[in-house]
Amino acid sequence: MLLESDEYQGGPRRPSDRVFCSELINDGENPYNVRMFKDLEGFLEPGSDEERLAREIDPTRIPQHVAVIMDGNGRWAKSRNLPRLEGHRAGMQSVREIVETSARVGVKVLTLFAFSSENWKRPEREVSTLFRLMVDFLKKEDKVLVKNDFRLRVIGRRDGLPEKARRELDRVETLTRDNQRMVLCIALNYGGRTEIVDAVRSLLADPTVAAIAAADAAMVVDEDAISRRLYTAGLPDPDLLIRTSGEFRVSNFLLWQIAYTEIWITPAFWPEFRKRHFLQAIVDYQKRERRFGDIQPPS
Ligand code: FPP
Repeated sequence: MLLESDEYQGGPRRPSDRVFCSELINDGENPYNVRMFKDLEGFLEPGSDEERLAREIDPTRIPQHVAVIMDGNGRWAKSRNLPRLEGHRAGMQSVREIVETSARVGVKVLTLFAFSSENWKRPEREVSTLFRLMVDFLKKEDKVLVKNDFRLRVIGRRDGLPEKARRELDRVETLTRDNQRMVLCIALNYGGRTEIVDAVRSLLADPTVAAIAAADAAMVVDEDAISRRLYTAGLPDPDLLIRTSGEFRVSNFLLWQIAYTEIWITPAFWPEFRKRHFLQAIVDYQKRERRFGDIQPPS
């Protein structure tokens, strides 16, 4: 189960804790560096590909926010002559593994695209299974989220979610609201265009905007004003977007926020996605040069 065996106690690690990949740590005073290696210790099999990949990671340049389009559950099931629902069930194991890997590597926000505003078109049984898997996950893992200092945040239109799911999400969001280590952000009934529409509506409904003349009101509409009204308000934009199952689409996910996000695509179906894929994505991300429209990276 998620991080059960290794609760992070908070505070900087002592230099003597540097037992994993210690030769790679060149900034002995930076507790963040020390922590990444310590947190991966025992989690990666010695001598494995995963461990080799972890050694390639520069712990000072971990993407703060990783977003994931979890795709291919249905195709994974079909390739094994299983019902689609089995693909979703198997996908939950990948969810657990990637939440844990993200936290151990030092990612601060992990956003998972679990259910889009277009997914209601699917058969009713598939929709109800997806919500049941999510509710089961929260019921089973809530203590683990608390113990490991994870905060749950849900983005998307809440109205329209099944009542039981909404209650459970509210409960776990409240339970974890003061947690600091990592935000686990789940996109549910989420659509990127809807999010922008909702942000603009909220801006127009803002009494300070409504009270001023239309010509002046235009002046208060800027990128910052919209960002502050997105479902993701307060979170950094994703640095890295991972998509599984080899599709080259963004599928209405975080349209505003991914303006300068690095995109990494793997042919692996979501139920096959494991820590080695995640670590590879980070290694590849660190090889990219991010210039944000400039001719060189920001200093
Ligand atoms: C894409 O596969 C997967 C989804 C639409 C749902 C993924 C959701 C879960 C695994 C549950 C999430 C729960 C939590 C707690 C995050 P697909 O069905 O689109 O596959 P296909 O493209 O091969 O048909």
